[in-house]
Amino acid sequence: MRSYPVDHEQLSEDERIVIRFSHVVGENTPKGMESRRFAKLVEERTNGQVEVQVFPNSFLYKDGEEIEAIKDGDVQMIAPATSKIATLVPEWQVLDLPFAFKNASEVKEYIRSPVGEVLKMKLEQEGMYLLGFWENGFKQMTSNKTPLYTPEDFRNLKFRIMDSELLGEQFKLLEAEPQVETFYQVFSVLESGQLDAQENTFSNIVNKNIHTVQDYMTVSNHGYLGYFVIINADFWKNLPEDIQVTLLDVMNDVTEWEAKRAREINAEKYEVLQSCNCIEIHELNDEERKQWEEALTPLYDSFAKRYGAQYIKYLPKFKE
Ligand code: LMR
Repeated sequence: MRSYPVDHEQLSEDERIVIRFSHVVGENTPKGMESRRFAKLVEERTNGQVEVQVFPNSFLYKDGEEIEAIKDGDVQMIAPATSKIATLVPEWQVLDLPFAFKNASEVKEYIRSPVGEVLKMKLEQEGMYLLGFWENGFKQMTSNKTPLYTPEDFRNLKFRIMDSELLGEQFKLLEAEPQVETFYQVFSVLESGQLDAQENTFSNIVNKNIHTVQDYMTVSNHGYLGYFVIINADFWKNLPEDIQVTLLDVMNDVTEWEAKRAREINAEKYEVLQSCNCIEIHELNDEERKQWEEALTPLYDSFAKRYGAQYIKYLPKFKE
């Protein structure tokens, strides 16, 4: 750990380095906890020289807006779901390919692979430096119309999706009707019946009360939802080197701690769903999973044609 001889608590706002960190979920979620822990440790380890101000729950900016805000320098850090980075670097949608990963470690390995490095550079060209990757968990499907067992069950259902072309295609292949909505809007579009269904992690389902307005959930683990923790690249370059080192140290520690926490939280929230008597739960069996995989396979080809087969080649299921 580095030591800072000055008592920075006494510094004025102008003398301190302030990092405004905006995100869209509640405090009591993996990302909510991680960002607070990040802020606390940064403050401690820099003796208050660096202050991270966390704005949770779409309080400052909603999806999309937060990407504009970091580009414009209105905030310095965000941690969007990787799917939402698609609007800047569409190749990152590779992480959304259905059934591409069996666990979070595989996702992390992909990010560290040579093509992951290329994609990190692309992000930097867009003015964003990737500080880390935080876990949430696998997405599950929920609906208020019909249980989702086979691909046919998705027909004509109106699905809320994150802003990602690939996720749109995923639901079109299942003959559903995808619609992009911010996370901020999810509950109200489902509650009002404007949309019928959505995909998300146990943690987000419970924290957003989605389970109270949906009748069915299929535990499908079809796609991984994790976060890119991003800092404005110009801001990053202008930070003193010792501060950069401290921020990276803290990021590593928080990432290690959070991975365990994210898994615990999702397990706890799954228990909440199992015992709430408010949603019918189905765990996808092998036969059904095979049908889903077959129905969604064309996504791999269309991704490879559009963005290049090299990104697919490094996915764990195609590696030796
Ligand atoms: C969603 O929009 O469903 C999620 O990405 C929200 C989040 O940040 O976990």
